Amino acid sequence: MRAMVAAKSGDEFMSFVTRRKSLAAETRTDGGQRLKATLSWPHLIALGVGAIIGTGIYTLTGVAAGLAGPGVILSFAAAGAVCAFAALSYAEMATLMPHAGSAYSYSYATLGEGIAWVIGWSLILEYTLVCSTVSVGWSGYAVGLIEQAHWAVPKALLAGPDAGGIVNLPAVFIALAVTGMLLIGTRESATVNFVLVCVKLVALAGFVALTLPHFNAANFHPFAPFGYGAHEIGGKKYGVMGAAGIIFFAFYGFDAISTAAEETKNPSRDLTIGIVGSMVMCTVIYMVVAACALGASPYGVFSKSAEPLAFVLRALQQPLAASLIAGAAVLALPTVIMVFMFGQSRVFLAMARDGLLPRRLASVSPRGVPRAVTILTGVIAAVIAGAMPLSDIASLANAGTLAAFIATGLAVMALRRAKPDLPRPFRTPLVWVVGPLGIAGCLYLFTTLQTKTIRFFLVWNAIGVIVYLLYGRTKSRLAEA
Ligand code: ALA
Repeated sequence: MRAMVAAKSGDEFMSFVTRRKSLAAETRTDGGQRLKATLSWPHLIALGVGAIIGTGIYTLTGVAAGLAGPGVILSFAAAGAVCAFAALSYAEMATLMPHAGSAYSYSYATLGEGIAWVIGWSLILEYTLVCSTVSVGWSGYAVGLIEQAHWAVPKALLAGPDAGGIVNLPAVFIALAVTGMLLIGTRESATVNFVLVCVKLVALAGFVALTLPHFNAANFHPFAPFGYGAHEIGGKKYGVMGAAGIIFFAFYGFDAISTAAEETKNPSRDLTIGIVGSMVMCTVIYMVVAACALGASPYGVFSKSAEPLAFVLRALQQPLAASLIAGAAVLALPTVIMVFMFGQSRVFLAMARDGLLPRRLASVSPRGVPRAVTILTGVIAAVIAGAMPLSDIASLANAGTLAAFIATGLAVMALRRAKPDLPRPFRTPLVWVVGPLGIAGCLYLFTTLQTKTIRFFLVWNAIGVIVYLLYGRTKSRLAEA
């Protein structure tokens, strides 16, 4: 009897490790189920920049500057470099498997069902928390405008408990408003997205133009007051690399492009340009904006603001420009929430198609909206945004993303070994250097996250494994096969 139980649990473990979706299934090009290919690289760069530039540069720049001092410029460079390696791996997998589902789908075909499940489960955490984080960042700028307009809204309703309030109502509002828009079938139209991307970029360019004349090199001394490594003080990780663990948030979003891979006309060219191009562009913009903010104002002052870029401009006696940049953030940040809610529904769809999540959850309304997933994501994101501190949520979102990046790096290398001759529309250059460096960078950034983040992430995945063992393992389409 004991031997039978042991054999059975051995089988369960083996299915966790060895059950793999065939590569042919992931790369098949049969007509029926596929989404229409309508996008090319300018759309993808717009989608990428639309998803990448958000709360990271508009708000977390302040949080990260408070953790690293002026050395935050190096934090941007470090996080950007890790993302560059990850982006190259993404480009290879996304062009090879132009299917909805991103890192989850790559893992399923290469690393087995168990790892794929963990990655899908981590992506669900990431996408939900990105929606919450961006909502809190949006709220910082919206509250600034509310205060400038002298509207009589009780302060207790404008900030979460960590910031001395009861609930961050503006953050709850925007998370639910975007959910509502998606539910009535609002698609992020290419034109609106393009206009809002321009608004974000023009606002940042204006910020640079106005702050540059006030550049004071003295603000850069001392350069790294908390050192270069990452060390915990009062539950937060300080130092240049501690800040890199948070500011990493500002860079992702290019992975959301890969969820649109199925809809691109010429995946090999369009995805490569879209993913790598949008990320390089954002890295340069971030470093310039951060350098200008630091040059114009001592980091210790603006890092405490919930709307740091507007704060810097106000300190320079530019109230109109401050309101304009706040207005740009309020107008444009919701698109980031929209992109990630959309990405969430695509990952759910892929997992439900495979039987690992209830198919009901991913069912699509006659108007093409995955209602259940959208409502679930929106409500949970709103509750978290209303109550939790920004840096805690961002940090946890980063943990999920780092897991997905690590899995993608592993998937690229596993597939190069298993199927070296597979025709690859895009090959990661120097894969045996870029892959391990990307993975090592992500693992290192993971260690720079707050201890409570790492603990929560492990608990989240332990719960995930239990859900898999109780549900996905038997309901998986591969179990039926
Ligand atoms: N990179 C995105 C942002 O900064 C998630 O908001």
